[in-house]
Amino acid sequence: MSSKIEILSTELLEVHRPLVQDLRRLANSLGLEFGWHYLLDLTWIISQIDLTQSKMVLDAGAGTGILQWYLAEQGVNVTSVDRSSRQALPLRFRSRYRVDGLRHDDLAPATTLIRHQLAENQFRPLFSSLIYGVSGALKAKAPGEVVIYNQDLRELIDLADNSFDVVVAVSALEHNPPENLGVVVRELMRVLKPGGVLLATLCAAENRDWYHEPSQGWCYTADSLRKAFDLPSTVPDNYAHYAELFSRLKNNAELRDNLASFYSRSGKNGMPWGKWDPQYQPVGVRKEKEKMDE
Ligand SMILES: C[S@@+](CC[C@H](N)C(=O)[O-])C[C@H]1O[C@@H](n2cnc3c(N)ncnc32)[C@H](O)[C@@H]1O
Repeated sequence: MSSKIEILSTELLEVHRPLVQDLRRLANSLGLEFGWHYLLDLTWIISQIDLTQSKMVLDAGAGTGILQWYLAEQGVNVTSVDRSSRQALPLRFRSRYRVDGLRHDDLAPATTLIRHQLAENQFRPLFSSLIYGVSGALKAKAPGEVVIYNQDLRELIDLADNSFDVVVAVSALEHNPPENLGVVVRELMRVLKPGGVLLATLCAAENRDWYHEPSQGWCYTADSLRKAFDLPSTVPDNYAHYAELFSRLKNNAELRDNLASFYSRSGKNGMPWGKWDPQYQPVGVRKEKEKMDE
């Protein structure tokens, strides 16, 4: 498989039905909900990772998203980078996964978290911390490790060149303005091993780049993605089918009827106030890094 730009078709849900079910089960057990198009993003990304060969993966703009936990369950060691702090990562993740901070300040010890909850009289999180702590101690942890790194993607100063088999980014890079996107992509390509692959999902725009204010994300034309990802015109894209793919997305009952509860609590998100009305569609960019001469 080579580099490509691909608006994500709702067919992914059917083609990867067992994976969709696994992701739903995992999300449920971790108390996570999916962004409205994330099952498309996740199936597109995961189906292109060779899990037998990919032992070191960078999750760029990971937040507390499900992909890093899914990969750790498959035995992958994930470096999870985000500019938002995950110092106070909830115990439900720490009890199931081996989680560490890349630097001392990237992750507060679990004991500090519990002490803070006690001092602040946060009895509900404290109670669930204790439950998760006990249940986690009884269970074997997932085989892969997750290393938390709080850093801007434009400058991954602590990561060496050529160190990851795969770099993934689920709906993260669109939160960078057009003038920064190329800088981020170059930095992700720097840390990717020769022969490795970058798999990123962003938002597509048909005729011109535009900013979706409620989700604070940019939507990109094929030309803009080609430029930011430094992909030649020979790399295929499916933007010719933009309207048809968008119509199928808008009419997809599975995504429409399973909107996460957090959407209905605010107007500042990808589906303001939980009203099904997609304004953009997800697009995946696959970029391979050339192998070095033997
Ligand atoms: C919509 S969230 C998606 C989070 C996660 N990938 C998931 O699947 O749930 C986008 C994330 O990308 C992160 N992000 C975007 N641009 C970034 C940058 N330049 N440096 C670090 N993090 C970034 C944001 O902080 C945010 O946590």
